[in-house]
Amino acid sequence: MGKVSGKKSGDEKKLIQKAKEARRKAYAPYSKFKVGAAVLTRKGEIYTGANVESASYGLTACAERVALYQAVASGARKFKKIAVVADGKDPVTPCGVCRQVLAEFGENLEVICANLQGKVRRFKLRELLPYSFKKRR
Ligand code: THU
Repeated sequence: MGKVSGKKSGDEKKLIQKAKEARRKAYAPYSKFKVGAAVLTRKGEIYTGANVESASYGLTACAERVALYQAVASGARKFKKIAVVADGKDPVTPCGVCRQVLAEFGENLEVICANLQGKVRRFKLRELLPYSFKKRR
């Protein structure tokens, strides 16, 4: 698993806070499980997202993808970190689909997973998804 301890950097605190705020906007009437995400670009911009569910459950969009798509659709292409926040005993890590989508933009991405109590786990995307699919290696 990723590092459990370690000091939270200023960047990280802000990103977690933004993800927490975004989580409040989650649309999760079916699972009742709200997730927020915030992605930090190399230029220092932050884009946020929350999960959006559908009555046709499989169409649900995770917070991580909503945040990333928001960033990409705004022109960003290079990312430093993403924070994911949910309410649970342990922080949640991104699902497999989100890992592949994030890998599209670089496997060096730092993935910061936090719960509402302030427990944090950090990973590099390549640890979470080794050998991601690529058209060219
Ligand atoms: N979910 C996320 O938004 N991100 C994750 O990392 C895990 C799961 C959402 C999808 C669904 O709306 C709810 O959490 C329950 O699975």
